[in-house]
Amino acid sequence: MGLFDRKPIATADEGGTGMRRTLGAGDLVMLAIGAVIGAGIFSSLGTAAAGETLADGTVIRYGAGPALVLSFVLLGAVCGLAALCYAELAAMIPQAGSAYAYSYATLGEIVAWVVGWALILEYAVGNVAVAIGWSGYFTALLSGFGIDLPGWLTHGYWNVKASSDPAIRALVDSAPRIAGIPLLVNLPAFGIVVAITLLLLKGVKESTRANNVMVVIKLLVLALFVIVGGMHIDPENYKPFAPNGFRGIHQGAAIVFFAYIGFDAISTAAEETKNPQRNLPIGILGGLAVCTLIYVIVGFVATGLVPYEQLRSSDPLAKALSIAGLSTASWIVAAGAVVSMSAVLLVFQYGQPRIFYAMARDGLLPKFAAKLHPKTRTPHVTTIITGVAVALGSLLADDAATYDLTNIGTLAAFSVVCIGVLVLRIREPERHRPFRVPFVWLVTLGGAGACVFVMRGLPSSAWKAFAIWMVIGLALYFVYGYKNSVLRRGNAPVSPE
Ligand code: ALA
Repeated sequence: MGLFDRKPIATADEGGTGMRRTLGAGDLVMLAIGAVIGAGIFSSLGTAAAGETLADGTVIRYGAGPALVLSFVLLGAVCGLAALCYAELAAMIPQAGSAYAYSYATLGEIVAWVVGWALILEYAVGNVAVAIGWSGYFTALLSGFGIDLPGWLTHGYWNVKASSDPAIRALVDSAPRIAGIPLLVNLPAFGIVVAITLLLLKGVKESTRANNVMVVIKLLVLALFVIVGGMHIDPENYKPFAPNGFRGIHQGAAIVFFAYIGFDAISTAAEETKNPQRNLPIGILGGLAVCTLIYVIVGFVATGLVPYEQLRSSDPLAKALSIAGLSTASWIVAAGAVVSMSAVLLVFQYGQPRIFYAMARDGLLPKFAAKLHPKTRTPHVTTIITGVAVALGSLLADDAATYDLTNIGTLAAFSVVCIGVLVLRIREPERHRPFRVPFVWLVTLGGAGACVFVMRGLPSSAWKAFAIWMVIGLALYFVYGYKNSVLRRGNAPVSPE
Protein backbone atom coordinates (compact mmCIF):
# COMPACT_ATOMS: atom_id res chain seq x y z
CA MET A 1 0.00 0.00 0.00
CA GLY A 2 1.43 3.37 -1.00
CA LEU A 3 1.16 7.02 -0.09
CA PHE A 4 -1.14 7.71 -3.03
CA ASP A 5 -3.71 4.96 -2.40
CA ARG A 6 -7.23 6.16 -3.05
CA LYS A 7 -10.29 5.56 -0.96
CA PRO A 8 -13.06 3.90 -2.97
CA ILE A 9 -15.84 6.27 -3.95
CA ALA A 10 -19.07 5.46 -2.19
CA THR A 11 -21.96 7.24 -3.76
CA ALA A 12 -25.03 8.33 -1.90
CA ASP A 13 -27.00 5.68 -3.74
CA GLU A 14 -24.64 2.86 -2.72
CA GLY A 15 -24.34 4.07 0.84
CA GLY A 16 -28.00 4.76 1.47
CA THR A 17 -27.46 7.18 4.33
CA GLY A 18 -31.14 7.84 4.64
CA MET A 19 -30.82 11.60 4.69
CA ARG A 20 -33.85 13.36 3.33
CA ARG A 21 -33.43 15.26 0.10
CA THR A 22 -35.19 18.48 0.95
CA LEU A 23 -33.02 21.28 -0.42
CA GLY A 24 -33.80 22.95 -3.72
CA ALA A 25 -31.65 25.30 -5.78
CA GLY A 26 -33.00 28.38 -3.99
CA ASP A 27 -32.18 26.94 -0.55
CA LEU A 28 -28.65 26.21 -1.69
CA VAL A 29 -28.13 29.74 -2.99
CA MET A 30 -29.33 31.03 0.41
CA LEU A 31 -27.01 28.60 2.23
CA ALA A 32 -24.09 29.79 0.12
CA ILE A 33 -24.84 33.45 0.87
CA GLY A 34 -25.15 32.53 4.56
CA ALA A 35 -21.69 30.98 4.63
CA VAL A 36 -20.00 33.49 2.36
CA ILE A 37 -20.98 37.03 3.37
CA GLY A 38 -19.14 37.93 6.58
CA ALA A 39 -15.82 39.28 7.77
CA GLY A 40 -14.41 39.38 4.25
CA ILE A 41 -16.71 42.14 3.04
CA PHE A 42 -17.36 43.74 6.43
CA SER A 43 -13.71 43.79 7.58
CA SER A 44 -10.93 42.65 5.22
CA LEU A 45 -12.23 45.02 2.54
CA GLY A 46 -10.47 47.82 4.45
CA THR A 47 -7.00 46.31 4.20
CA ALA A 48 -7.62 45.28 0.58
CA ALA A 49 -8.45 48.86 -0.40
CA ALA A 50 -5.93 50.69 1.76
CA GLY A 51 -3.02 48.24 1.87
CA GLU A 52 -0.84 47.66 4.88
CA THR A 53 2.33 49.40 5.97
CA LEU A 54 4.28 48.72 9.14
CA ALA A 55 5.18 51.50 11.56
CA ASP A 56 8.76 51.50 10.20
CA GLY A 57 7.42 52.15 6.69
CA THR A 58 7.81 48.58 5.37
CA VAL A 59 5.00 47.87 2.90
CA ILE A 60 3.37 44.52 3.67
CA ARG A 61 0.94 44.83 0.76
CA TYR A 62 -0.26 47.45 -1.66
CA GLY A 63 -3.93 48.38 -1.60
CA ALA A 64 -6.22 48.27 -4.62
CA GLY A 65 -7.77 51.67 -3.90
CA PRO A 66 -11.08 52.24 -5.71
CA ALA A 67 -9.96 49.55 -8.20
CA LEU A 68 -11.03 47.13 -5.48
CA VAL A 69 -14.07 46.49 -7.67
CA LEU A 70 -11.70 44.94 -10.22
CA SER A 71 -10.22 42.72 -7.48
CA PHE A 72 -13.75 41.49 -6.82
CA VAL A 73 -14.41 40.81 -10.51
CA LEU A 74 -11.10 38.94 -10.82
CA LEU A 75 -11.94 36.82 -7.77
CA GLY A 76 -15.42 36.08 -9.08
CA ALA A 77 -13.83 34.56 -12.18
CA VAL A 78 -11.18 32.59 -10.25
CA CYS A 79 -13.71 31.22 -7.78
CA GLY A 80 -16.07 30.43 -10.67
CA LEU A 81 -13.53 27.98 -12.09
CA ALA A 82 -12.97 26.36 -8.69
CA ALA A 83 -16.72 26.30 -8.07
CA LEU A 84 -17.33 24.31 -11.27
CA CYS A 85 -14.80 21.73 -10.07
CA TYR A 86 -16.39 21.58 -6.62
CA ALA A 87 -19.78 21.05 -8.26
CA GLU A 88 -18.56 18.02 -10.23
CA LEU A 89 -16.94 16.34 -7.22
CA ALA A 90 -19.65 17.26 -4.73
CA ALA A 91 -22.33 15.70 -6.94
CA MET A 92 -20.19 12.59 -7.41
CA ILE A 93 -18.70 12.15 -3.92
CA PRO A 94 -21.36 13.46 -1.55
CA GLN A 95 -19.54 13.04 1.76
CA ALA A 96 -18.74 15.21 4.76
CA GLY A 97 -15.09 16.17 4.68
CA SER A 98 -15.54 18.20 1.47
CA ALA A 99 -12.22 18.73 -0.33
CA TYR A 100 -10.51 16.26 2.01
CA ALA A 101 -12.89 13.48 0.96
CA TYR A 102 -12.61 14.40 -2.73
CA SER A 103 -8.82 14.31 -2.58
CA TYR A 104 -8.84 10.92 -0.87
CA ALA A 105 -10.94 9.53 -3.69
CA THR A 106 -9.08 11.23 -6.52
CA LEU A 107 -5.43 11.83 -5.66
CA GLY A 108 -4.78 9.49 -2.75
CA GLU A 109 -4.10 9.50 0.96
CA ILE A 110 -1.14 11.79 1.37
CA VAL A 111 -2.74 14.47 -0.81
CA ALA A 112 -5.95 14.08 1.19
CA TRP A 113 -4.01 14.58 4.40
CA VAL A 114 -2.33 17.69 3.03
CA VAL A 115 -5.71 19.07 1.92
CA GLY A 116 -7.34 18.20 5.27
CA TRP A 117 -4.46 19.94 7.02
CA ALA A 118 -4.93 22.99 4.74
CA LEU A 119 -8.66 22.99 5.50
CA ILE A 120 -7.81 23.65 9.16
CA LEU A 121 -6.52 26.98 7.88
CA GLU A 122 -9.77 27.60 6.00
CA TYR A 123 -12.11 26.68 8.83
CA ALA A 124 -10.34 27.15 12.18
CA VAL A 125 -7.86 29.93 11.35
CA GLY A 126 -10.57 31.51 9.17
CA ASN A 127 -12.82 31.63 12.18
CA VAL A 128 -10.12 33.36 14.23
CA ALA A 129 -10.21 36.08 11.56
CA VAL A 130 -14.02 36.24 11.59
CA ALA A 131 -14.07 36.42 15.41
CA ILE A 132 -11.65 39.36 15.34
CA GLY A 133 -13.82 41.07 12.70
CA TRP A 134 -16.89 40.37 14.82
CA SER A 135 -15.17 41.94 17.82
CA GLY A 136 -14.31 45.08 15.82
CA TYR A 137 -17.95 45.67 14.98
CA PHE A 138 -19.22 44.61 18.38
CA THR A 139 -16.88 47.02 20.12
CA ALA A 140 -18.01 49.82 17.79
CA LEU A 141 -21.63 48.97 18.63
CA LEU A 142 -20.97 49.05 22.37
CA SER A 143 -19.29 52.36 22.03
CA GLY A 144 -22.43 53.64 20.26
CA PHE A 145 -24.21 52.80 23.53
CA GLY A 146 -21.60 54.75 25.44
CA ILE A 147 -19.76 51.63 26.66
CA ASP A 148 -16.10 51.95 25.79
CA LEU A 149 -14.03 48.87 26.51
CA PRO A 150 -10.36 49.58 27.20
CA GLY A 151 -8.09 48.96 24.18
CA TRP A 152 -6.09 46.25 25.94
CA LEU A 153 -9.29 44.15 26.18
CA THR A 154 -10.20 44.49 22.50
CA HIS A 155 -6.84 44.06 20.75
CA GLY A 156 -4.81 40.87 20.85
CA TYR A 157 -1.06 41.05 21.38
CA TRP A 158 -0.13 40.26 17.76
CA ASN A 159 -2.77 42.66 16.49
CA VAL A 160 -1.14 45.47 18.44
CA LYS A 161 2.36 44.49 17.36
CA ALA A 162 1.35 44.45 13.69
CA SER A 163 -0.61 47.69 13.75
CA SER A 164 0.63 50.76 11.93
CA ASP A 165 -1.72 52.97 13.97
CA PRO A 166 0.37 54.78 16.63
CA ALA A 167 -2.62 54.89 19.02
CA ILE A 168 -2.97 51.10 18.91
CA ARG A 169 0.76 50.49 19.15
CA ALA A 170 0.83 52.67 22.24
CA LEU A 171 -1.32 50.04 23.96
CA VAL A 172 1.85 47.98 24.47
CA ASP A 173 3.03 50.61 26.92
CA SER A 174 -0.28 51.41 28.56
CA ALA A 175 -1.59 47.84 29.02
CA PRO A 176 -1.48 46.21 32.46
CA ARG A 177 1.35 43.71 32.82
CA ILE A 178 1.62 40.24 34.23
CA ALA A 179 5.19 39.26 35.07
CA GLY A 180 6.35 42.06 32.78
CA ILE A 181 4.31 40.81 29.79
CA PRO A 182 1.72 43.31 28.51
CA LEU A 183 -1.81 41.97 28.84
CA LEU A 184 -3.34 42.54 25.40
CA VAL A 185 -6.32 40.33 24.65
CA ASN A 186 -9.35 40.44 22.40
CA LEU A 187 -11.97 39.47 24.93
CA PRO A 188 -15.09 39.91 22.75
CA ALA A 189 -13.56 37.69 20.03
CA PHE A 190 -12.77 35.04 22.64
CA GLY A 191 -16.26 35.32 24.13
CA ILE A 192 -18.17 34.87 20.86
CA VAL A 193 -16.19 31.74 19.98
CA VAL A 194 -16.90 30.24 23.41
CA ALA A 195 -20.60 31.08 23.05
CA ILE A 196 -20.86 29.54 19.56
CA THR A 197 -19.02 26.42 20.73
CA LEU A 198 -21.43 26.00 23.66
CA LEU A 199 -24.34 26.39 21.25
CA LEU A 200 -22.98 23.69 18.96
CA LEU A 201 -22.37 21.35 21.89
CA LYS A 202 -26.05 21.52 22.67
CA GLY A 203 -26.62 19.95 19.27
CA VAL A 204 -27.84 23.07 17.57
CA LYS A 205 -27.79 22.65 13.84
CA GLU A 206 -28.08 25.45 11.38
CA SER A 207 -31.54 25.04 10.01
CA THR A 208 -32.31 26.52 6.65
CA ARG A 209 -35.01 28.68 8.18
CA ALA A 210 -32.68 30.31 10.71
CA ASN A 211 -30.12 30.70 7.96
CA ASN A 212 -32.64 32.38 5.70
CA VAL A 213 -33.44 34.94 8.41
CA MET A 214 -29.73 35.75 8.84
CA VAL A 215 -29.29 35.99 5.07
CA VAL A 216 -32.17 38.45 4.82
CA ILE A 217 -30.57 40.57 7.58
CA LYS A 218 -27.23 40.50 5.76
CA LEU A 219 -28.77 41.54 2.48
CA LEU A 220 -30.83 44.28 4.12
CA VAL A 221 -27.88 45.91 5.88
CA LEU A 222 -25.75 45.74 2.76
CA ALA A 223 -28.64 47.26 0.78
CA LEU A 224 -28.87 50.01 3.40
CA PHE A 225 -25.13 50.62 3.09
CA VAL A 226 -25.39 50.82 -0.69
CA ILE A 227 -28.44 53.09 -0.76
CA VAL A 228 -27.47 55.49 2.05
CA GLY A 229 -23.77 55.41 1.21
CA GLY A 230 -24.49 55.68 -2.50
CA MET A 231 -26.24 59.01 -1.97
CA HIS A 232 -23.09 60.43 -0.38
CA ILE A 233 -20.49 59.33 -2.90
CA ASP A 234 -17.90 61.95 -3.71
CA PRO A 235 -16.54 61.27 -7.24
CA GLU A 236 -13.22 62.83 -6.16
CA ASN A 237 -12.62 59.74 -4.02
CA TYR A 238 -12.29 57.61 -7.18
CA LYS A 239 -9.20 59.58 -8.20
CA PRO A 240 -6.75 57.98 -8.65
CA PHE A 241 -8.74 54.85 -9.49
CA ALA A 242 -5.89 52.35 -9.22
CA PRO A 243 -3.23 54.05 -7.08
CA ASN A 244 -0.97 50.99 -7.07
CA GLY A 245 -1.76 49.69 -10.54
CA PHE A 246 -2.27 45.99 -11.14
CA ARG A 247 -0.01 45.15 -8.19
CA GLY A 248 -2.55 46.75 -5.85
CA ILE A 249 -5.49 45.02 -7.55
CA HIS A 250 -3.69 41.68 -7.27
CA GLN A 251 -2.56 42.08 -3.66
CA GLY A 252 -5.94 43.49 -2.67
CA ALA A 253 -7.59 40.46 -4.27
CA ALA A 254 -5.29 38.12 -2.37
CA ILE A 255 -6.61 39.33 1.01
CA VAL A 256 -10.24 40.02 0.07
CA PHE A 257 -10.43 36.50 -1.36
CA PHE A 258 -11.51 35.75 2.19
CA ALA A 259 -14.89 37.27 1.31
CA TYR A 260 -15.51 34.46 -1.20
CA ILE A 261 -14.70 31.52 1.05
CA GLY A 262 -17.72 29.46 1.95
CA PHE A 263 -19.39 28.68 -1.36
CA ASP A 264 -17.47 25.41 -1.18
CA ALA A 265 -18.98 24.64 2.24
CA ILE A 266 -22.41 23.95 0.71
CA SER A 267 -20.91 21.00 -1.15
CA THR A 268 -21.36 19.12 2.11
CA ALA A 269 -25.14 19.39 1.67
CA ALA A 270 -24.96 17.18 -1.43
CA GLU A 271 -26.83 14.29 0.16
CA GLU A 272 -29.68 16.46 1.29
CA THR A 273 -30.21 18.10 -2.09
CA LYS A 274 -33.05 17.25 -4.41
CA ASN A 275 -31.85 16.51 -7.93
CA PRO A 276 -28.21 17.33 -7.04
CA GLN A 277 -26.96 17.10 -10.60
CA ARG A 278 -29.04 20.17 -11.42
CA ASN A 279 -29.34 22.00 -8.11
CA LEU A 280 -25.82 21.70 -6.71
CA PRO A 281 -24.12 23.50 -9.60
CA ILE A 282 -26.90 26.12 -9.55
CA GLY A 283 -26.44 26.57 -5.78
CA ILE A 284 -22.64 26.82 -5.88
CA LEU A 285 -22.40 28.94 -9.01
CA GLY A 286 -25.57 30.97 -8.34
CA GLY A 287 -24.44 31.79 -4.78
CA LEU A 288 -21.07 32.86 -6.11
CA ALA A 289 -22.60 35.05 -8.82
CA VAL A 290 -24.93 36.81 -6.36
CA CYS A 291 -22.09 37.44 -3.88
CA THR A 292 -19.76 38.73 -6.61
CA LEU A 293 -22.39 41.23 -7.74
CA ILE A 294 -23.03 42.38 -4.16
CA TYR A 295 -19.28 42.76 -3.49
CA VAL A 296 -18.66 44.83 -6.61
CA ILE A 297 -21.47 47.21 -5.65
CA VAL A 298 -20.43 47.45 -1.96
CA GLY A 299 -16.79 47.97 -2.98
CA PHE A 300 -17.81 50.73 -5.38
CA VAL A 301 -19.84 52.55 -2.71
CA ALA A 302 -17.27 52.08 0.09
CA THR A 303 -14.41 53.54 -1.96
CA GLY A 304 -16.61 56.39 -3.18
CA LEU A 305 -17.83 57.32 0.28
CA VAL A 306 -14.45 58.16 1.84
CA PRO A 307 -10.85 58.36 0.58
CA TYR A 308 -9.76 54.73 0.39
CA GLU A 309 -6.93 55.18 2.95
CA GLN A 310 -9.57 55.82 5.60
CA LEU A 311 -11.01 52.33 5.17
CA ARG A 312 -8.04 50.79 7.04
CA SER A 313 -9.95 49.58 10.08
CA SER A 314 -11.47 46.37 11.39
CA ASP A 315 -14.96 47.85 10.78
CA PRO A 316 -14.47 49.75 7.50
CA LEU A 317 -18.11 49.88 6.34
CA ALA A 318 -19.42 51.30 9.63
CA LYS A 319 -16.41 53.60 9.84
CA ALA A 320 -16.95 54.92 6.31
CA LEU A 321 -20.58 55.75 7.11
CA SER A 322 -19.67 57.42 10.36
CA ILE A 323 -16.87 59.48 8.75
CA ALA A 324 -19.48 60.61 6.21
CA GLY A 325 -21.64 61.73 9.15
CA LEU A 326 -24.21 58.94 8.77
CA SER A 327 -24.10 57.70 12.33
CA THR A 328 -27.51 55.98 12.47
CA ALA A 329 -26.80 54.01 9.30
CA SER A 330 -23.35 53.21 10.67
CA TRP A 331 -24.90 51.79 13.82
CA ILE A 332 -27.39 49.64 11.86
CA VAL A 333 -24.67 48.31 9.56
CA ALA A 334 -22.51 47.46 12.59
CA ALA A 335 -25.42 45.53 14.13
CA GLY A 336 -26.03 43.71 10.84
CA ALA A 337 -22.36 42.86 10.56
CA VAL A 338 -22.40 41.31 14.03
CA VAL A 339 -25.32 39.07 13.00
CA SER A 340 -23.74 38.21 9.63
CA MET A 341 -20.44 37.21 11.16
CA SER A 342 -22.12 35.16 13.88
CA ALA A 343 -23.71 33.08 11.10
CA VAL A 344 -20.36 32.55 9.38
CA LEU A 345 -18.76 31.60 12.71
CA LEU A 346 -21.48 29.05 13.30
CA VAL A 347 -21.14 27.41 9.87
CA PHE A 348 -17.35 27.10 10.03
CA GLN A 349 -17.26 26.16 13.71
CA TYR A 350 -19.75 23.44 12.72
CA GLY A 351 -17.71 22.34 9.69
CA GLN A 352 -14.24 22.00 11.22
CA PRO A 353 -15.11 19.29 13.78
CA ARG A 354 -16.77 17.28 10.99
CA ILE A 355 -13.63 17.40 8.88
CA PHE A 356 -11.55 16.30 11.90
CA TYR A 357 -14.14 13.60 12.47
CA ALA A 358 -13.87 12.37 8.87
CA MET A 359 -10.07 12.30 9.14
CA ALA A 360 -10.15 10.47 12.48
CA ARG A 361 -12.61 7.91 11.14
CA ASP A 362 -10.13 7.19 8.35
CA GLY A 363 -7.46 6.63 11.00
CA LEU A 364 -5.42 9.70 10.07
CA LEU A 365 -6.16 11.37 13.41
CA PRO A 366 -6.47 9.63 16.79
CA LYS A 367 -9.62 7.59 17.40
CA PHE A 368 -10.93 9.76 20.23
CA ALA A 369 -11.59 12.48 17.63
CA ALA A 370 -14.06 10.20 15.85
CA LYS A 371 -16.31 9.82 18.92
CA LEU A 372 -19.91 10.93 18.68
CA HIS A 373 -21.83 12.12 21.70
CA PRO A 374 -24.25 9.33 22.70
CA LYS A 375 -27.21 11.68 23.00
CA THR A 376 -26.68 14.52 20.53
CA ARG A 377 -24.86 12.37 17.92
CA THR A 378 -22.48 15.25 17.28
CA PRO A 379 -18.67 15.04 17.24
CA HIS A 380 -18.40 16.71 20.64
CA VAL A 381 -14.71 15.97 21.23
CA THR A 382 -13.60 17.71 18.04
CA THR A 383 -16.14 20.49 18.65
CA ILE A 384 -14.48 21.23 22.01
CA ILE A 385 -10.94 20.98 20.61
CA THR A 386 -11.87 23.35 17.76
CA GLY A 387 -13.60 25.73 20.19
CA VAL A 388 -10.63 25.93 22.56
CA ALA A 389 -8.09 26.39 19.75
CA VAL A 390 -10.10 29.04 17.91
CA ALA A 391 -10.98 30.90 21.12
CA LEU A 392 -7.34 31.06 22.20
CA GLY A 393 -6.26 32.14 18.71
CA SER A 394 -8.91 34.88 18.69
CA LEU A 395 -7.62 36.20 22.00
CA LEU A 396 -4.17 37.06 20.67
CA ALA A 397 -3.99 36.96 16.87
CA ASP A 398 -3.61 39.67 14.23
CA ASP A 399 -6.52 39.84 11.81
CA ALA A 400 -4.57 40.56 8.59
CA ALA A 401 -2.16 37.68 9.26
CA THR A 402 -5.04 35.27 9.88
CA TYR A 403 -6.81 36.34 6.67
CA ASP A 404 -3.60 35.65 4.76
CA LEU A 405 -3.08 32.23 6.29
CA THR A 406 -6.71 31.26 5.72
CA ASN A 407 -6.55 32.38 2.11
CA ILE A 408 -3.34 30.58 1.28
CA GLY A 409 -4.64 27.32 2.79
CA THR A 410 -8.01 27.59 1.07
CA LEU A 411 -6.51 28.47 -2.30
CA ALA A 412 -4.17 25.49 -2.00
CA ALA A 413 -7.16 23.22 -1.29
CA PHE A 414 -9.09 24.75 -4.23
CA SER A 415 -6.24 24.10 -6.65
CA VAL A 416 -5.94 20.48 -5.52
CA VAL A 417 -9.69 20.05 -6.04
CA CYS A 418 -9.33 21.40 -9.62
CA ILE A 419 -6.49 18.97 -10.37
CA GLY A 420 -8.46 16.15 -8.74
CA VAL A 421 -11.31 16.61 -11.22
CA LEU A 422 -8.93 16.23 -14.16
CA VAL A 423 -7.13 13.22 -12.69
CA LEU A 424 -10.38 11.40 -12.00
CA ARG A 425 -11.63 12.12 -15.53
CA ILE A 426 -8.48 10.45 -16.86
CA ARG A 427 -8.46 7.56 -14.40
CA GLU A 428 -12.16 6.78 -14.38
CA PRO A 429 -13.67 8.28 -17.51
CA GLU A 430 -16.68 5.93 -17.39
CA ARG A 431 -17.80 6.79 -13.87
CA HIS A 432 -21.23 8.40 -13.72
CA ARG A 433 -20.94 12.16 -13.23
CA PRO A 434 -24.22 13.88 -12.36
CA PHE A 435 -22.58 17.21 -13.22
CA ARG A 436 -19.70 17.57 -15.66
CA VAL A 437 -17.30 20.51 -15.79
CA PRO A 438 -17.38 21.92 -19.34
CA PHE A 439 -14.05 22.28 -21.21
CA VAL A 440 -12.44 20.17 -18.53
CA TRP A 441 -8.76 20.78 -19.38
CA LEU A 442 -9.25 24.52 -19.59
CA VAL A 443 -11.37 24.84 -16.45
CA THR A 444 -9.32 22.51 -14.22
CA LEU A 445 -5.84 23.65 -15.22
CA GLY A 446 -7.04 27.25 -15.55
CA GLY A 447 -8.69 27.04 -12.11
CA ALA A 448 -5.61 25.59 -10.42
CA GLY A 449 -3.37 28.14 -12.13
CA ALA A 450 -5.67 31.03 -11.21
CA CYS A 451 -5.71 29.99 -7.53
CA VAL A 452 -1.91 29.84 -7.47
CA PHE A 453 -1.85 33.27 -9.14
CA VAL A 454 -4.04 34.76 -6.37
CA MET A 455 -1.84 33.05 -3.74
CA ARG A 456 1.17 34.81 -5.21
CA GLY A 457 -0.39 38.13 -4.23
CA LEU A 458 -0.03 37.24 -0.54
CA PRO A 459 2.90 38.60 1.48
CA SER A 460 6.00 36.51 2.15
CA SER A 461 5.06 36.17 5.83
CA ALA A 462 1.98 34.16 4.73
CA TRP A 463 4.08 31.84 2.58
CA LYS A 464 6.51 31.24 5.43
CA ALA A 465 3.72 30.47 7.87
CA PHE A 466 2.08 28.19 5.30
CA ALA A 467 5.35 26.32 4.70
CA ILE A 468 5.85 25.81 8.44
CA TRP A 469 2.24 24.62 8.79
CA MET A 470 2.70 22.11 5.97
CA VAL A 471 6.00 20.78 7.35
CA ILE A 472 4.32 20.20 10.73
CA GLY A 473 1.41 18.49 8.93
CA LEU A 474 3.63 16.15 6.94
CA ALA A 475 5.66 15.28 10.02
CA LEU A 476 2.44 14.39 11.87
CA TYR A 477 1.29 12.28 8.94
CA PHE A 478 4.43 10.17 8.94
CA VAL A 479 4.48 9.88 12.73
CA TYR A 480 0.81 8.99 13.07
CA GLY A 481 -1.50 8.83 10.04
CA TYR A 482 0.74 6.75 7.81
CA LYS A 483 0.82 3.97 10.42
CA ASN A 484 -2.78 4.17 11.54
CA SER A 485 -4.61 4.72 8.28
CA VAL A 486 -7.68 2.50 8.11
CA LEU A 487 -7.23 2.23 4.35
CA ARG A 488 -3.67 0.93 4.71
CA ARG A 489 -4.73 -1.55 7.36
CA GLY A 490 -7.07 -3.03 4.79
CA ASN A 491 -10.50 -2.32 6.22
CA ALA A 492 -11.50 0.89 4.55
CA PRO A 493 -14.84 2.31 5.59
CA VAL A 494 -16.61 2.82 2.31
CA SER A 495 -19.91 3.97 3.67
CA PRO A 496 -20.58 7.68 3.26
CA GLU A 497 -21.24 10.00 6.19
N1 ALA B 1 -16.42 34.39 3.46
C1 ALA B 1 -16.57 34.33 4.86
C2 ALA B 1 -16.43 35.67 5.48
O1 ALA B 1 -16.17 36.61 4.78
C3 ALA B 1 -15.60 33.38 5.46
O2 ALA B 1 -16.61 35.81 6.67
